[in-house]
Amino acid sequence: MKVLVAVASRHGSTREIGQAIAEVLREEGFDVDLADPDDVDAVDPYQAVVLGSAVYVGRWAASARAMVDRCASGLVQRPVWLFSSGPLGFPAVPAQDPDEVPGLVARLGARDHRSFAGRLDAAALGLAERAVVALVRAEEGDFRAWEEVQGWARGIATQLHGEEIRGIRLVR
Ligand SMILES: Cc1cc2nc3c(=O)[nH]c(=O)nc-3n(C[C@H](O)[C@H](O)[C@H](O)COP(=O)(O)O)c2cc1C
Repeated sequence: MKVLVAVASRHGSTREIGQAIAEVLREEGFDVDLADPDDVDAVDPYQAVVLGSAVYVGRWAASARAMVDRCASGLVQRPVWLFSSGPLGFPAVPAQDPDEVPGLVARLGARDHRSFAGRLDAAALGLAERAVVALVRAEEGDFRAWEEVQGWARGIATQLHGEEIRGIRLVR
């Protein structure tokens, strides 16, 4: 079964979360393509899609939102899982999902959305980004919880395998 993991990342940490998800799905026997949303024209070749984005100033990346617009008709016909990455610190801040997430979940009929903690490396930021980070006093460090990410990916694999075994058609 072919699965697409599409990830919008500015500084690489969300892409690494996508890589971890793709690795788990490959270990579970799926044929996985890992892609930047800008490179996805259509989701026709895939039986399921995982789409994730880094969160900046409360929003998903434009490339991930544009992929949703471009591929909406294909996405609603397939099982879709969404994730965001951004919250920093212990406890992770912000605690709430980006405002647009409920709308995305409803629009695509997504099976789940999960927010994963992110990474902030101040040395890699541009001047404008540094100003925002200073303003909101965002905490520097790598807060990504790999076991949580891998567990979520295994849950996706379990659902897809279960439906495959029961002969449920994944693409409507
Ligand atoms: C300028 C700036 C704004 C940010 N705004 C948010 C935000 O609104 N919500 C959030 O959860 N994380 C926010 N973050 C944290 C990033 O989402 C986090 O560092 C994430 O891991 C970055 O992913 P990337 O390396 O894939 O770009 C912000 C980070 C920066 C530098």
